[in-house]
Amino acid sequence: MRTIPWVGAAVVVAVAATTVMRATQAADAPGGAPAPASPVAGPPPDPGCIECHQRLHPGVVQQWRDSTHAKAATPVACETCHGSDHKTENDAAKAKRPTPKVCAECHAKQVEQFSAGKHALGEASIEAIPMLALQPESVRKAACASCHSVGRKNPDGSVGKCDACHTRHLFSKEEARKPEACETCHMGEDHSQYEMWRSAKHGVVHHLQGEKGRAPVCQTCHMQEGDHAVITGWGFLGLRLPVPDDTWTKDTMTIVRALGPWGRDEAGMAARVKAIQDLQLARLDARSFNLAREKMLQTCAKCHSYSFGQAQLDNADQIVRETTHLLAESVRVVEDLYADEILPRTADGPKHPDLLLFYESPTEIEQELYRMFLFHRQKAFQGAMHANPDYMHWFGWAPMKSSAQRIRELAERLRADHAAKAKAAAPDTPK
Ligand code: HEC
Ligand code: HEC
Ligand code: HEC
Ligand code: HEC
Ligand code: HEC
Ligand code: HEC
Ligand code: HEC
Ligand code: HEC
Repeated sequence: MRTIPWVGAAVVVAVAATTVMRATQAADAPGGAPAPASPVAGPPPDPGCIECHQRLHPGVVQQWRDSTHAKAATPVACETCHGSDHKTENDAAKAKRPTPKVCAECHAKQVEQFSAGKHALGEASIEAIPMLALQPESVRKAACASCHSVGRKNPDGSVGKCDACHTRHLFSKEEARKPEACETCHMGEDHSQYEMWRSAKHGVVHHLQGEKGRAPVCQTCHMQEGDHAVITGWGFLGLRLPVPDDTWTKDTMTIVRALGPWGRDEAGMAARVKAIQDLQLARLDARSFNLAREKMLQTCAKCHSYSFGQAQLDNADQIVRETTHLLAESVRVVEDLYADEILPRTADGPKHPDLLLFYESPTEIEQELYRMFLFHRQKAFQGAMHANPDYMHWFGWAPMKSSAQRIRELAERLRADHAAKAKAAAPDTPK
């Protein structure tokens, strides 16, 4: 047996539940010799990582010592994840940046699930948003990328960043089970799920009763049985096809049309539909929706009657319908302004409302439309889904109504200004 002098004697805590680990090792190392699986062939037995880093970054080493990784019968060592090409103070750039491909050597199931889920599309989806290119590099990094890195595309072809939920170097299951693990990203203006959950009955009971599991946390409903493939029926934008009636279908199509960076010609339209499909931005089949919904209802049914959960979610679906209608009406008001050439059509500017321009929207009326789309409507239907009446109504539906009114008035004003200008420009008619 190989010695591992870099592990301080106190660190080598024999953990009882290592059967799985031994089995993994047996598979990795023929003959059953206990050796940690490693992305790098044959690391030297004592690369000195701990000794040097203990001095330089005691926090990193302490967190690793506290982790299940350090306490495993054969510890998952620094070099197991980072390789051992970097050996001195001057070649840190050679240290490998571990990706899910490294984790997959021992956690294939979680990596597989994760890679098939919505988090894995995090980077691809921001790339599809044209306004991103208009922001300074520093803003892109500090804003979009830091949350969307959960689905980072790594140089080795793998996707994701596992320490988004179980942070390094503790890599703790307990930490990832807490709703706060989701809070850094699922909060704020356009996806305030943490705030909604926290101030609804579920979050309140959770906090009042400690963590006894009486009330559900994010993971109870969205990572059932530890499934790492998060995805919901409606998705972020509350858009799917088919929907049950003609008005709803027409309204959905109006909004899809306004997710407009892909142009309005046939080829542009086909590319748009493909991107929406690939990114699962809108859900385009009934089967996957029904499966996701049934799974959710089974979760509610652990603590409520099935029909109670169903009534809640059916009503939330109706809120999606109503908010889709309200938004579509406002989109059409702006579409008509473009059709009548009241909003200017410049060579490189939009020729129709483009909701994905967000705050780059070129006119006041389109700025109002963007807020209605990305902030108010999201809060209304997400509030209903998370049983939070205040988000549903006062942060959601109420400002949607105000926006709709403002958009109508702004459109009237634009039309009046346009008519006045046209009149002023026309040659004087003789009396
Ligand atoms: C002689 C001291 C020394 C040894 C031995 C050493 N490191 Fe480092 N390591 C450093 C220094 C210095 C840095 C740079 C720290 C900084 O940027 O502040 C570094 C950085 C790192 C980084 C971060 C790299 C990055 O891109 O930010 C990792 C990961 C790392 N070391 C892992 C290891 C591993 C694994 C081993 C053993 C195979 C090891 N180190 C051995 C001194 C050492
Ligand atoms: C289970 C895998 C794993 C093990 C074991 C591990 N690391 Fe890391 N380490 C990571 C991951 C993941 C990152 C983040 C990489 C990224 O995405 O940039 C990281 C980042 C780092 C960094 C740079 C970022 C920072 O927070 O400073 C240093 C330094 C580092 N590790 C040192 C070590 C040392 C020293 C050890 C051993 C005590 C160790 N690591 C063990 C997975 C591991
Ligand atoms: C060489 C194999 C190996 C590699 C590589 C590895 N792990 Fe582990 N991991 C283990 C073992 C062994 C355990 C302990 C399992 C047990 O006790 O049931 C563990 C446990 C865990 C746990 C559960 C910790 C807890 O609180 O019980 C998490 C989370 C985890 N690993 C994440 C990661 C991530 C993320 C990576 C990649 C950055 C990674 N692991 C890389 C072997 C590995
Ligand atoms: C605070 C973290 C955070 C920041 C910052 C952030 N996002 Fe997001 N984004 C999220 C989360 C979380 C979701 C998923 C929300 C949901 O499904 O309700 C999301 C969803 C999206 C989606 C929809 C993806 C889909 O297919 O459902 C797009 C597109 C998007 N973000 C683009 C951006 C862009 C572009 C930026 C920067 C201008 C940005 N995001 C900044 C966290 C963030
Ligand atoms: C969205 C948050 C999130 C991300 C991202 C995430 N995990 Fe997890 N992980 C969890 C939660 C929650 C649990 C606890 C599940 C449970 O209750 O059993 C967990 C548990 C685990 C466990 C312990 C499994 C067990 O049954 O002991 C491993 C191993 C693990 N994750 C690996 C990974 C790897 C590898 C990645 C990257 C591909 C990853 N996780 C990304 C949330 C996350
Ligand atoms: C580092 C940021 C980050 C963390 C932490 C995070 N998420 Fe996400 N989540 C995102 C982003 C970004 C998306 C959208 C991915 C995309 O662009 O396609 C997302 C999407 C989702 C979706 C899919 C929504 C849909 O469209 O169907 C669910 C569900 C979800 N996250 C749940 C969770 C849960 C539960 C946790 C905590 C255990 C969590 N997330 C932690 C950033 C994060
Ligand atoms: C009681 C169960 C439950 C809990 C707890 C819960 N959610 Fe949800 N969540 C739902 C339901 C139901 C939907 C709508 C599913 C659908 O699309 O049919 C949803 C939708 C979502 C979505 C997709 C976009 C959206 O909002 O429509 C995200 C992301 C999300 N939840 C994140 C979270 C986060 C983060 C937490 C914790 C702070 C959380 N949820 C807590 C039930 C729950
Ligand atoms: C882990 C158990 C648990 C799960 C799972 C759960 N709930 Fe709850 N729920 C509770 C508890 C406890 C309360 C507080 C009971 C009370 O108000 O008397 C509650 C309260 C509620 C309330 C507000 C109180 C009321 O009676 O009107 C709604 C609405 C609700 N849940 C809907 C849902 C929906 C929908 C789901 C599934 C998406 C769900 N719950 C899943 C435990 C749970």
